[in-house]
Amino acid sequence: MENLLQIHNITKVFGEGTINEKVAIDNLSLTLKDGDFVTVIGNNGAGKSTLMNSIAGSFPLDKGQIIIGGEDVTRLPEYKRAKYIGRVFQDPLKGTAFDMTIEENLAIAAAKCKSRGLQRGISKAEKKEFREKLAVLNMGLEDKMTQKVKLLSGGQRQALTLFMALIAEPKLLLLDEHTAALDPATAKKVLELTDEFAKRDGMCTLMITHNMHDALKYGNRTILMQNGKIMMDIKGSERTDMTVEKLIARFSIDNDRMLL
Ligand SMILES: Nc1ncnc2c1ncn2[C@@H]1O[C@H](COP(=O)(O)OP(=O)(O)OP(=O)(O)O)[C@@H](O)[C@H]1O
Ligand SMILES: [Mg+2]
Repeated sequence: MENLLQIHNITKVFGEGTINEKVAIDNLSLTLKDGDFVTVIGNNGAGKSTLMNSIAGSFPLDKGQIIIGGEDVTRLPEYKRAKYIGRVFQDPLKGTAFDMTIEENLAIAAAKCKSRGLQRGISKAEKKEFREKLAVLNMGLEDKMTQKVKLLSGGQRQALTLFMALIAEPKLLLLDEHTAALDPATAKKVLELTDEFAKRDGMCTLMITHNMHDALKYGNRTILMQNGKIMMDIKGSERTDMTVEKLIARFSIDNDRMLL
């Protein structure tokens, strides 16, 4: 097994030298193997989103190194890492061009992978391919190809965003509470699609969730973040045997220790 993602001792401080100074990521290291599906849990402000933004290259780091697929990307700007990375955010309004049609959005996503412009427009063959692929989502989107994305529901839009993130065949999929804004039934559907796609394509997946049950149900490893550090890294047989109750019990012991 190769290590797709290597994070070595990264630190990210916001507002350094001001009264708002915050060490959002504190000397954190993490290695993901090919095919790892890691769920990320932790309190508000623990640094989960900042970890993902660090991987995506949204800002320069204060310290440390990030290697994706053997390439040191630490100093690469966000757009230059984008070929490796697919992202889905909590907000269903992010991630798609909402005033464009479904097929136009899909064409943009596909263009990212083929690294060619959009001047050519969308070919008949591509339309057919998109229709077939969308049908897999089982949400009727294949019959709405020329509808603008802003007319879709939040769940339909998240499914589409996930799908678009995958079209470009990323090596790494970053999901930041991507089902948090959805109703429980739709959230479940989008999570199941996520799981199915992760298994099918075998990319590395990092998924932030506040739902402990989902954190243990999906993926093969769970990390718990607190104060910009990884406090727990649960994998292997420990992960298989983990329950929500045990996790909460361990979490509160650690929490108490932190407060003392
Ligand atoms: N751009 C920013 N500027 C200043 N501070 C920031 C910025 N982004 C994050 N922070 C701070 O860094 C800390 C970690 O934030 P982060 O968004 O990573 O938390 P999180 O674990 O994703 O929380 P949540 O569960 O609420 O989404 C917080 O204290 C936050 O206020
Ligand atoms: Mg967050």
